[in-house]
Amino acid sequence: MIESNRDILAGARVLDLASHDGRWSFAALKAGAKHVTGVEARGELVDNANKLFAQYGVPDEDYDFVQGDMFQILQERKFDVDVVLCLGFIYHTLRYGELFRGIMDAGPKYCILDTKVHQSDEPVIRVLTNKTGVQGHAAKDDLSEGGLALAGYPTVSALAVMLDVYGFEIEEQFDWNALLATLPKRLRAVRGYAKGQRVTLRCRSLRS
Ligand SMILES: C[S@@+](CC[C@H](N)C(=O)[O-])C[C@H]1O[C@@H](n2cnc3c(N)ncnc32)[C@H](O)[C@@H]1O
Repeated sequence: MIESNRDILAGARVLDLASHDGRWSFAALKAGAKHVTGVEARGELVDNANKLFAQYGVPDEDYDFVQGDMFQILQERKFDVDVVLCLGFIYHTLRYGELFRGIMDAGPKYCILDTKVHQSDEPVIRVLTNKTGVQGHAAKDDLSEGGLALAGYPTVSALAVMLDVYGFEIEEQFDWNALLATLPKRLRAVRGYAKGQRVTLRCRSLRS
């Protein structure tokens, strides 16, 4: 996710949506990004990110973690970035229009998406629910109800249709099998990628 995108991360201003404890923001800075803004709904994770960055001596002016619901923040705040990271989040929502409009309005040349997908050639979405009380799941937002949020696994072709509306094309789907072939078999945590259940997409803006 980072290594194969070093060329676009070098010197970039990055927006990291669903930044968790800052793990990918940190990796983006290490890969040469100039500045990262992380947006994360859960306050305890934002606190962890700030603590970790201070502990690792990352200069204050290189990062900013914003706590809140990304759908609200993307509407309220004006971002101007080169790259958007949206890693491990798309399968926690059905609010695609708001998400991709927010990504587009942030003005990036590239967005890197990493998501679980439904496997089919059809442009469809498998609908499911997320428990908003679970830390890794969708956070409580304006549309969640009774502790549940609607979520879904889109197919890659469904993502391509949605991205196209907001002026992005899938430039590259990362070849996880080629990478995994070079790694020890015990790395089972990434087996979803090997089976095509999860993908990493580098998407290029056709507008900026
Ligand atoms: C599966 S984790 C992925 C975290 C990280 N991006 C990664 O790839 O490791 C999903 C993250 O989305 C965050 N999240 C869920 N709903 C959100 C929302 N509406 N706004 C901002 N963050 C949200 C969760 O708190 C959690 O940190």
